[in-house]
Amino acid sequence: MTDSTTDSTTRQSWWRGAAIYQVYVRSFADGDGDGTGDLAGVRSRLPYLADLGIDAIWFNPWYPSPMDDGGYDVADYRDIEPVFGSLAEAEKLIEEAHTLGIKIIIDIVPNHCSDSHPWFAAALAAGPGSPERERFWFRRGRGDGGELPPNNWQSRFGGPAWTRVTEPDGSPGEWFLHLYSSRQPDLNWTNPEVAEEFEDILRFWFNRGVDGFRIDVADGLVKADDLPDAGDGPLPYSDLDGVHEIYRTWRRIADGYPDQRVFVGEMWLPDPERFAMYLRPDELHSAFNFDFLSCPWDASRLRAVVDATLAAHAPVDAPATWVLSNHDVTRHVTRYGRADTSFSFADRQHLAPTDRELGLRRARAAALLTLALPGAVYIYQGEELGLSEVEDLPDSLRQDPVFERTAGADIGRDGCRVPLPWSGDAPPFGFNAAGTAPWLPQPPSWSSVTVAAQTDDPDSMLELYRRALRLRADDPALGDGTLGWLSGQSAGVLAFTRSETFACVVNLSAAPVELPAHREVLLASRPVEQTLPPDTTVWLRI
Ligand code: NOJ
Repeated sequence: MTDSTTDSTTRQSWWRGAAIYQVYVRSFADGDGDGTGDLAGVRSRLPYLADLGIDAIWFNPWYPSPMDDGGYDVADYRDIEPVFGSLAEAEKLIEEAHTLGIKIIIDIVPNHCSDSHPWFAAALAAGPGSPERERFWFRRGRGDGGELPPNNWQSRFGGPAWTRVTEPDGSPGEWFLHLYSSRQPDLNWTNPEVAEEFEDILRFWFNRGVDGFRIDVADGLVKADDLPDAGDGPLPYSDLDGVHEIYRTWRRIADGYPDQRVFVGEMWLPDPERFAMYLRPDELHSAFNFDFLSCPWDASRLRAVVDATLAAHAPVDAPATWVLSNHDVTRHVTRYGRADTSFSFADRQHLAPTDRELGLRRARAAALLTLALPGAVYIYQGEELGLSEVEDLPDSLRQDPVFERTAGADIGRDGCRVPLPWSGDAPPFGFNAAGTAPWLPQPPSWSSVTVAAQTDDPDSMLELYRRALRLRADDPALGDGTLGWLSGQSAGVLAFTRSETFACVVNLSAAPVELPAHREVLLASRPVEQTLPPDTTVWLRI
């Protein structure tokens, strides 16, 4: 391979092994002092992210939104939420990030919009049978007076997936479909107008320099035309060719740009073959792998997930993506400190006892495992600080619609969205200027985990992430590629090589284990002598 080929290959495939940092804007850093994070805050912290050693940032939705679902209820796809800043500021941010060598991925929410989107207002005003209603899923209800929902679909946030509207003449009217909250009407992707609108939105942001999109509910866009009742399983989808055609069109748009622009799909697809269909070479570039995130801290279960993930991706030559936490799930320090270390939306195990020290030890080990696996890795803001889930927020402050729609049965996702602690001894910990309360309260105990407190402490989680990300960036064997399992390991140990000179060993058993032959310990999640202690990962030069 000549140097120029290497250069262009690397440039073309930056995303295959990237370390991508997820910024939940509301909670990252507040530049204007109102207690809510914003783009000015992100811009001021770009040097922090560059120093951390990440390749790209994924922004949760930053568009104008009533924030019923934390921005996943978009009112205008071509602007910035005024509380976060302005379009001009976003353009500057993209430019500044690029100067620091950081790519920008933004969220696109094509399954639904906000009920404040002008299209929905027009649909309500135009009435039944109008082309405006054809952009959504409006249907007559069942029952003599149409008083029952059109089918039995349930919202993923609890309660029925249908809400009845009042027609312009004041009469009780049609129902509209919403797979999420009733303030998030689903768009009708069989309507070409919807497809054209989103193609234009993609171009709008690509032309402003964004390097890619994370697609929300990527596998949910196309519903079965006749909207049949659902059985016990997932919702019935029919026109799968239709959804693949959408992504082929999107791919052609991305491929029309000289430098590579990418799509990563958010999908919860249990069937690996269907999952891989979305990652064919002319569709999405990558997709999230939530089996890894949901998996308990157990060597054989984790190995099975890693093997199944790599096997699912291999036929389409797509890189796997690895995620431990995000803005929807209980932070993994908290999960890993519990008796049951798995994650499930059906049961967040809210307030189940957790041992922070144990969770932290495992989270450190999990970080080195994840960063050594082949493919791309997503780091959710605050995991590099070892933040725990904030489980004792007062109910009156909870904002997640999940909490309300399930009458508190599901506590929701606010606990992983608490604003980051940057410095100082008391809230707001440098998140915003003292004097204003952050939009969700931070625990006073976070004084020991601020960025300032952890910087230069060689034993801190932050310095572990910094060292690991630096080593990962410098070793061409890490990131994209393959792995080989090392044979002859004790039960409860995961051990694999990424090259002839790099091995990663994780001890998930309760007893110390011998290290395989090696020349040098590159990095360990806690001190290693002759043996590898429980809940510890080590990177070895072999
Ligand atoms: C997945 C997003 O991650 C989540 O935060 C959101 O509530 C739903 N999609 C609906 O947009």
